[in-house]
Amino acid sequence: MTRTVYVNGNYLPETEAKISIFDRGFLMADGVYEVTSVLDGKLIDFDAHAKRLRRSLDELDMASPVTMDELLAIHRELVLQNKVEEGLVYLQITRGAPADRDFAFPDPETVPSSLVLFTQNKPGLADSPVARVGIKVISIEDIRWGRRDIKTIQLLYPSMGKMIAKKAGADDAWMIQDGHVTEGTSNNAYIVKGRKIITRPRSNDILHGITRAAVLRFAKEAQMEIEERRFTIDEAKEADEAFITSASTFVMPVVEIDGVALGDGTPGKVAPRLREIYLEESREAAIWQSERGQAALATLPLPARKYKSTAPDTAARQTILPKSGKLSSLSRIVRISQNRLYSNVMAARNIAMWLAQFRTVDIAASGYWRNRFLIAVWTQAKLGTNTISAAIDPLIRLFITPVNSESSDLGHQISIRWKERLTTFAAQISMVVIRNA
Ligand SMILES: Cc1ncc(COP(=O)(O)O)c(C=O)c1O
Repeated sequence: MTRTVYVNGNYLPETEAKISIFDRGFLMADGVYEVTSVLDGKLIDFDAHAKRLRRSLDELDMASPVTMDELLAIHRELVLQNKVEEGLVYLQITRGAPADRDFAFPDPETVPSSLVLFTQNKPGLADSPVARVGIKVISIEDIRWGRRDIKTIQLLYPSMGKMIAKKAGADDAWMIQDGHVTEGTSNNAYIVKGRKIITRPRSNDILHGITRAAVLRFAKEAQMEIEERRFTIDEAKEADEAFITSASTFVMPVVEIDGVALGDGTPGKVAPRLREIYLEESREAAIWQSERGQAALATLPLPARKYKSTAPDTAARQTILPKSGKLSSLSRIVRISQNRLYSNVMAARNIAMWLAQFRTVDIAASGYWRNRFLIAVWTQAKLGTNTISAAIDPLIRLFITPVNSESSDLGHQISIRWKERLTTFAAQISMVVIRNA
């Protein structure tokens, strides 16, 4: 299948996508990028990536051709069109393509920035066999420029580092500055001593990893001890454990440094546990992609007894569909699949949770099956559109409240889309009975 990619306002087959040879990304690596992971078809930590992108652009005095909100919409559209369940979305903004090569920056008024996005399908990203055995790293001198906190597309030295590691029979390289580890070629580096996690503090020396921020937050919540300080490569070789983090590897154990095995040469306890926590928490938070949305979600009452949440695929099918594959006369399933607006299991879940509160509803369930999001409502009463609207109205109100901060702004926009979705949903909820989804 050819991928659909995004280039400067257009969704195109990858074979038809073109960028000028005068693009400053091509000629001068004058550009920034982001990589956002996708799990269960959902973007992980989009808000944080958008915020870092904004910072990278500001640091380089580069304009964004679209708003962060539009970027989110493009991400979602590409994930949807390319049917990405597990994988990555790569985004790149460069200082555009002036008429000729010149060191001076072009006028942003006449030369718009270029924007390119594409997806990378990576089935098995979360359940990686490599994570079970861990990776080997070697150390190399860090000779990159002094603003590693800006996520630029100048990746020649990190690429060379990867190749040096490969030649040495390792998987990656940790870079060293004044004897201290800065980070991996495309990831942040950590060591573990006892139960203490040690990692270099944020500065211009390292990229401020989005996964790093999330992992440290989750580690704190799990009462793990964290020390943000520099550590030497010798100290690392004597550590009990080590690991890296990035959007494409999540938390990955490191079992060997410069040929020296850590512990017994297998992943210890801390890194695998952190990986587990990270994946679990990120998956749970993925839909909202904003702190405000997340907070709002937390305030939803959970009618636990009547509501069933289902895991993807077979589990969902079994829970939602009776074994016979036929529904009893009392069962009703609203199928919201094949409708892009609803392609979100959390939307289904929230609506089902609200429906479950109704006296007339026996059980409401939501699930995900073969790229379809389902809501099932088992009811003995005839449930009219008004009743459903009444159930959904409070949900709409919950998500439409004034907001002010930048990240909340995204939440607000998401909320508005929610309102549209739910209103349409309320109007459509004529209880479609399905035999076999
Ligand atoms: C040099 C470097 N450090 C750290 C990271 C990890 O950042 P994130 O967790 O945002 O993917 C990356 C990711 O590409 C990187 O290139």
